[in-house]
Amino acid sequence: MAGTGSVSFHGSAVPADSFLEDVIAGLSRPRKSLPPKYFYDARGSALFEAICTLPEYYPTRAELALTAAHAESIARFAGDGCQLIEYGSGASTKTRLLIGRLRPAAYVPVDISESALRGAAARLAAEFPWLHIRAVTGDFGRPLAIPAFGGEGRKVVYFPGSTIGNFSREEALAFLHMTRGQVGPGGAMLVGVDLKKDPNVLHAAYNDAQGVTAQFNLNLLARINAELGGDFAAERFAHYAFYNVRQGRIEMHLASLARQAVNVGRHRFSFAAGETIHTENSCKYSVEEFQALAAQAGFRGEQVWLDAEGLFSLHGLVAA
Ligand code: TRP
Repeated sequence: MAGTGSVSFHGSAVPADSFLEDVIAGLSRPRKSLPPKYFYDARGSALFEAICTLPEYYPTRAELALTAAHAESIARFAGDGCQLIEYGSGASTKTRLLIGRLRPAAYVPVDISESALRGAAARLAAEFPWLHIRAVTGDFGRPLAIPAFGGEGRKVVYFPGSTIGNFSREEALAFLHMTRGQVGPGGAMLVGVDLKKDPNVLHAAYNDAQGVTAQFNLNLLARINAELGGDFAAERFAHYAFYNVRQGRIEMHLASLARQAVNVGRHRFSFAAGETIHTENSCKYSVEEFQALAAQAGFRGEQVWLDAEGLFSLHGLVAA
């Protein structure tokens, strides 16, 4: 494709009042919880990029390695001139490996962090001057308006990073269903999924020695303090992450280190010593388990790529 590319921005940040409502609702439950999407303010997005380079956090390295090793075959699966829509694009690091080979008609990164999106769009525009970028700020957990541009080319949703694991299995099914509707009859999906493995390896990945994952988790409380007038004392909460074998998922919590009360605006919440706020799940799937889930949502698992160590999978799904 000749000519020069273009960059445009669409959508808008998640409004502050839904942040407050979600926090009040989550902390009012008998088992307290907070939605993980609020991790990603500018500091949270930067901490997350740091997690991705930690020695214990193998998923990013494994997915980058498998993407580099199989880039040709992945690009062939997606097809030349597709519209590449990426959910939770962040810094778009993995995508860079695909864009050069894929030559998509348009790249549509979707992310809740506008700062991450602007940084990534600027870097990609410089590296691929021919690329049409339509960046969308928003929450991909809900139906999103994808900007129309000409219309040609099949839609391929790229969803790397095992972000699908951060949904429960029921939510993941609903999400795959919604995406199946979005890509339409000729469409496809490329989904990165972390595999089940030695629980010790999983445990270490979410309990790094430098404590970056702990900072990332605790940043949620700092954000509630700064944006919602909370008075969480960070030193009275601890990062607590473990592998729940029966559920096949890492659970991330913030544990109260004392009996205490915390105020958020005009609301007051009490914590027993050791009580936790459940902040995130990271579900792990075998190849077969994930293909069965995708089939329930109307996708056929056509291809699957693994890294050399068999730690991580990338599924090529086509609309069935
Ligand atoms: N989705 C990835 C995972 O579950 C990355 C991720 C999301 C993550 N939230 C995280 C990693 C919190 C560490 C901590 O592994």
